Amino acid sequence: MLTLGINYSQMHDSSACIVRDGELVFAVAEERISRVKHDAGFPKNAIRACLDFANVRAEQLDEVCFGWQTAGPVFRHDLKCYATGRMPLTYLNGLNSTLHFFSMWHQENGAKKFSQQFGPTMAKMRFVDHHLAHAISAYAYSGFDEAAVVVMDGRGAWEATTIWHGHNGRLDPVLMIPFPDSVGYFYSTFTEFLGFQPNSDEWKVMGLAPYGKPGLDLSPFIDLKAAPYRVHTKQLIANGAAPFASMKTFLGPARMAESEIDERHKDIAYAVQDACEIAMLSVVRMAIEKTGCRNVCLAGGVALNSKANGKIATSGFVDKMFVQPAASDDGVALGAALAPYLDDNGRLPNKAMRHGYWGPCFSDEAVESALRTYKLRYMRLPDPASAAAELLAQGKILGWFQGRMEFGPRALGSRSILADPRDPEMNAKVNNAVKFREWWRPFAPSLKKEAAGEYLESAADSPFMILTAQVRPEKRAVIPSVTHVDGSARPQTVEKEINPLYWRLIDEFGKRTGVPVIMNTSFNLRGEAIVHTPTDAIRTFFSSGMDALVIGSFLVEK
Ligand SMILES: [Fe+2]
Repeated sequence: MLTLGINYSQMHDSSACIVRDGELVFAVAEERISRVKHDAGFPKNAIRACLDFANVRAEQLDEVCFGWQTAGPVFRHDLKCYATGRMPLTYLNGLNSTLHFFSMWHQENGAKKFSQQFGPTMAKMRFVDHHLAHAISAYAYSGFDEAAVVVMDGRGAWEATTIWHGHNGRLDPVLMIPFPDSVGYFYSTFTEFLGFQPNSDEWKVMGLAPYGKPGLDLSPFIDLKAAPYRVHTKQLIANGAAPFASMKTFLGPARMAESEIDERHKDIAYAVQDACEIAMLSVVRMAIEKTGCRNVCLAGGVALNSKANGKIATSGFVDKMFVQPAASDDGVALGAALAPYLDDNGRLPNKAMRHGYWGPCFSDEAVESALRTYKLRYMRLPDPASAAAELLAQGKILGWFQGRMEFGPRALGSRSILADPRDPEMNAKVNNAVKFREWWRPFAPSLKKEAAGEYLESAADSPFMILTAQVRPEKRAVIPSVTHVDGSARPQTVEKEINPLYWRLIDEFGKRTGVPVIMNTSFNLRGEAIVHTPTDAIRTFFSSGMDALVIGSFLVEK
């Protein structure tokens, strides 16, 4: 069976993947190809890339599976929320809901767009419940026979939080908390209140949180004593008055974008992150109680909160944990594409996902052709890993472009900017010269899996940078530029069998410095999508303060 999975909701992170006989073949987010960050448009480029990679035509597909129900249920749920007063019916809310409905309805929820772009197909068009698609994306790639599966995001058609019991290749629904009682909505509203982009910049709030102090009361907005939590949505919504009216009453004025960060903003970030962690722990605890299973799978945008994930993993009530690395809506394509396997009492395939390299790759010929096009001086490297390690040991900031692009928000050694984590100034250097991003956002380490125990108190198996761990106190001064202010790090443990080239780079760096750890951040400039093609990489390299670019087998230096 050949299935195409699609995320398309006009909300954010459109994506596509292709699955052959239950095995994921290829996946890519539309933003990487279109270069529009969090692109919410119909993912025609991503679908084309899937078909090209798998070398199939649209008419050969058995099913095209969308990770959302049709527009009707979304609209009906919104109307119900307005009618019952759970969401205030403002002019803007009502207009948005109506426009979204008519736009999706007109496009037959993406099916019409698909046939317009790719011609007629006999493939069945399937619209999968959004949280079921998230749940499959966690459970069916976990490798666990049995799991308590938790999905938390901004919203599905009607869901905000769901619990599932995964066993024997099936997913039984256990609990559903409807939108707008949503931890994702709570977090994204505060993200906007703090002057950042909602559904995009939640990382910034998480990174800012450790600079704040405890004590701020957010109980008007979220009840953490209710089991498992209760979001007071009406307090978060403008309620027909000025934006953030209630929030301003309790917390003071909202922060203007790009303005100074003061102590109050830090304290709000602290309180929001703390509330999110308590709510997530509470939901996971409930999932374990209700399913009787201590293996936990997480998905949904809230599960990108690596700090909370780290706390769950070390809470003592979880045995094994798998967080779908593409936890946000890009990942529902992965789940939707497997949904047909549940038909007729069928079972999901279940294979542990051990890496994120599901995207496009470029041959050395394609790379060299791009280098020639731009008339660049370059040299061919006999051993790119060792040359890169040498440059890093000299303190150079490096662009690293190799192999298949990562699926999900993190660069994991295919499209990465690398640097020496031992230099306490490196964080500021990379921030100022390359990433041009906020001073408080931490950088993450990639380390040999064999060295994880030596450097970290937990997270010995963390291939996706999706949970934080405490750096051992005696190692914090050894890798200061990847240790956050609270002693935490968001590690990627790199296995030799999974990514031999990247593992060897770190190994070679370790041989030269005694520290088998490197700083790894995504290969992009602030506000841009991670680079996709050699041209994207070259353009980004020359638009920044990077010193060298190792791209395929080639080295470009400034
Ligand atoms: Fe979602």
